[in-house]
Amino acid sequence: MKEITVGLGERSYPILICETATHEMAERIRQALPGCDHLILISNSTIGRLHASGAIHLLETTGTHIDTIEIPEGETAKNTRVVNYVWDFLIEHNCTRQSALVALGGGVVGDITGFAAACYMRGINFIQLPTTLLSMVDSSVGGKTGVNHPRAKNVIGAFWQPRLVCINLGTLRTLPVEEFRSGFAEVIKHGVIRDSGYFEYLEEKLDAIFSLDTHTLEHVVAGSCQIKAEVVSKDERESGLRAILNYGHTVGHAIEALGDYGSIRHGEGVAVGMIAAAEISHRMNLCDARTVERITKLIERSSLPTRLPGNLTAESVLERMQLDKKVRDGKVRFVLPTGIGEVTIRNDVPPETIADVLHGMGCE
Ligand SMILES: NC(=O)c1ccc[n+]([C@@H]2O[C@H](COP(=O)([O-])OP(=O)(O)OC[C@H]3O[C@@H](n4cnc5c(N)ncnc54)[C@H](O)[C@@H]3O)[C@@H](O)[C@H]2O)c1
Repeated sequence: MKEITVGLGERSYPILICETATHEMAERIRQALPGCDHLILISNSTIGRLHASGAIHLLETTGTHIDTIEIPEGETAKNTRVVNYVWDFLIEHNCTRQSALVALGGGVVGDITGFAAACYMRGINFIQLPTTLLSMVDSSVGGKTGVNHPRAKNVIGAFWQPRLVCINLGTLRTLPVEEFRSGFAEVIKHGVIRDSGYFEYLEEKLDAIFSLDTHTLEHVVAGSCQIKAEVVSKDERESGLRAILNYGHTVGHAIEALGDYGSIRHGEGVAVGMIAAAEISHRMNLCDARTVERITKLIERSSLPTRLPGNLTAESVLERMQLDKKVRDGKVRFVLPTGIGEVTIRNDVPPETIADVLHGMGCE
């Protein structure tokens, strides 16, 4: 078992990474939730069918009473109605401050569960059992929880840290490859923003990663969690450093939004966005051509998209970027790589450079 700590003073918590659920994990869950007398496991029907019995078996070893809730599947479930449904259940089942929520699933289940926990009785404990690559390396770490508003994504939420993140790599075996690939975009992102050695490892071990070799996966997931944990520990509320995690997201979010958060997966948008940001950086003489080439090549080898979807115009992407949370005083903020393993944050990218790069990436 590998262990990484998210260091946040009294709100610090461990991330445990295992090939399969173990007794040790159950013991650590018990320790992470002292005095807890009631666990509420939240998942959706797909995850429930595949992984709920394993999770319940793990939780039962803690000797705590367990109830389960199934919420609808997919991004459209990330709304206040579903959170309200969870709160109704908690009230009907007499949940108290000694109850804790358990998120079993991807980022959608994790974000909803975390937000429900953050507000119920002004905040109760929750733990994350992530089952997608994206949730293992990204959404379950760092305490951002929340839901979408009909007019904007992720704008209703809270910072609320879990007490523990328990990663069972075995759950990835049932994950569709497109979902795995989408999560892998965030893994590549972590290498580019913080760690050239990690990026090199990804270049070298790509085949082993996609064939789900356990030892390699453990190293990759632990490496990504370590990078995210370190960034979050230094800047929990995104007042500075944490913004580097948005590398690839300025263009990526715009593409995702133009696809109505359905036709283009998050990681696919981020992949294109990472290439766009690298190319912009190169045009501004902030990085060399080799950096752009290595990022593009790794994305291409992962079968992630390297060009904008054919139905989008550069103008529509530019316009959509203006609506983003990352825009300040009308200036679009970009995270730009200055090499592999380091980035800089800029809000002075000339609009014509952005337009030019987008045109060059297939947006006519
Ligand atoms: N809180 C954060 O810091 C943060 C960071 C990044 C993304 N997010 C959010 O995460 C969400 C995306 O998360 P995601 O990519 O995990 O998508 P997701 O939660 O929608 O899961 C993707 C699909 O895979 C299914 N699934 C999950 N685990 C499975 C498994 N082991 N086997 C088979 N099927 C499985 C799900 O039911 C779903 O259909 C978005 O809402 C995004 O906003 C949050």
